[in-house]
Amino acid sequence: MFSEDGSGLMPARRLLLIGLVAGFALFVSFAVYVYQGELKTQLWKPALDAALEKVNLRRISNQSNSSTTQDVSPHPMPFNVTDPLSGYVNVLDDRGPLKLHCNVCAMVSSSGQVLNHEAGTEIDKADCVIRMNDAPVTGFEKHVGTRTTIRVASHTSFQLVNKKKADLLVKNKGLTFVAWGPDKSMTRDGKGRIFNGLSKLAKELKDDVDMYMLTPQRMAYADKVFENETGKPRQSSGSFLSTGWFTMILATEMCDQIKVYGMISDEYCKKYPQDETRYHYYTSPGNGHECDLYKRHENGRKNVHRFITEKTVFSRWATFHNVSFHFPSWH
Ligand SMILES: *[C@@H]1O[C@H](CO)[C@@H](O)[C@H](O)[C@H]1NC(C)=O
Ligand SMILES: *[C@@H]1O[C@H](CO)[C@@H](O)[C@H](O)[C@H]1NC(C)=O
Ligand SMILES: *[C@@H]1O[C@H](CO)[C@@H](O)[C@H](O)[C@H]1NC(C)=O
Ligand SMILES: *[C@@H]1O[C@H](CO)[C@@H](O)[C@H](O)[C@H]1NC(C)=O
Ligand SMILES: *[C@@H]1O[C@H](CO)[C@@H](O)[C@H](O)[C@H]1NC(C)=O
Repeated sequence: MFSEDGSGLMPARRLLLIGLVAGFALFVSFAVYVYQGELKTQLWKPALDAALEKVNLRRISNQSNSSTTQDVSPHPMPFNVTDPLSGYVNVLDDRGPLKLHCNVCAMVSSSGQVLNHEAGTEIDKADCVIRMNDAPVTGFEKHVGTRTTIRVASHTSFQLVNKKKADLLVKNKGLTFVAWGPDKSMTRDGKGRIFNGLSKLAKELKDDVDMYMLTPQRMAYADKVFENETGKPRQSSGSFLSTGWFTMILATEMCDQIKVYGMISDEYCKKYPQDETRYHYYTSPGNGHECDLYKRHENGRKNVHRFITEKTVFSRWATFHNVSFHFPSWH
């Protein structure tokens, strides 16, 4: 078995054996250490969770103090950090993408809430006034102000806007109009029903109104933001995004400060179950109550807007951007 002199091999074998035993012992003690560590973490987990929760609560309750922040990623996650407004392209081929920056923006909700406060004068003081869909100014100046800088509209409201273009678009020289819609109706290859209408209108009003639309990448981004914020994929959760969703994203990209008028909080309808504020300030009171509609949609399974969920998300965004909610005031 051994070489003739035997002296060289024996110590080597012994060394190997010692090494193996030592290695095994080390492994065992390490395993025990890990196991105990795991046990310890298990025992400490509730306390750890409580501490993390506290940190999160502090972050949400105090915007300026971010030294304790765990999740430092911004909300919403920007579409493009170096070029925040990329993805809003001109409807006309020979014009460049959206370039706009405002110090103070007033975002005027279409809710019946705006009829309760006569905030028109205050709204008009903002550098930029943002409105949505076919919400009018004429006849409501006392409540919603007179100026419109930006109008964001959905594919579903485009025909309404088009019908009232004299009042909603032509009157506001220099207006920026931004349309969003599913790729199918926005495609530029002649088959996009809404794009075709937009294109015709953009040519007709080219001296008064600059018309933009969201790229498919931007549309996908809006969905992804919803998924990241709520944990649910937008489509399979049976919901459509609202124009408010697209408008709030645009505002965070374009405005240093955002003052939202007439938007209720996610808690409002629970707090005021008798509230009969109408859904839109410009439709007759008989056309439905905001809270009824919000609740119905929030609980619906398919083809609905998650208006209340969106408000919860907006309130989170307000801790990352300078957003304030007025009439009713919250957050
Ligand atoms: C928020 O932070 C500021 C300073 O960053 C501090 O003065 C203030 O007390 C904090 N408020 C709360 C509620 O923690
Ligand atoms: C944030 O809060 C922590 C603990 O509450 C405090 O020590 C720290 O100074 C604060 N930082 C700022 C920037 O206010
Ligand atoms: C962001 O925009 C810049 C300028 O338009 C572009 O060069 C860059 O590729 C964009 N980044 C991403 C991640 O899309
Ligand atoms: C969604 O979350 C993932 C993972 O945190 C992140 O990488 C991505 O940038 C987020 N996208 C958006 C649009 O929020
Ligand atoms: C928001 O902006 C206004 C105007 O610049 C400023 O006075 C205010 O302190 C800001 N609020 C926050 C929370 O940063």
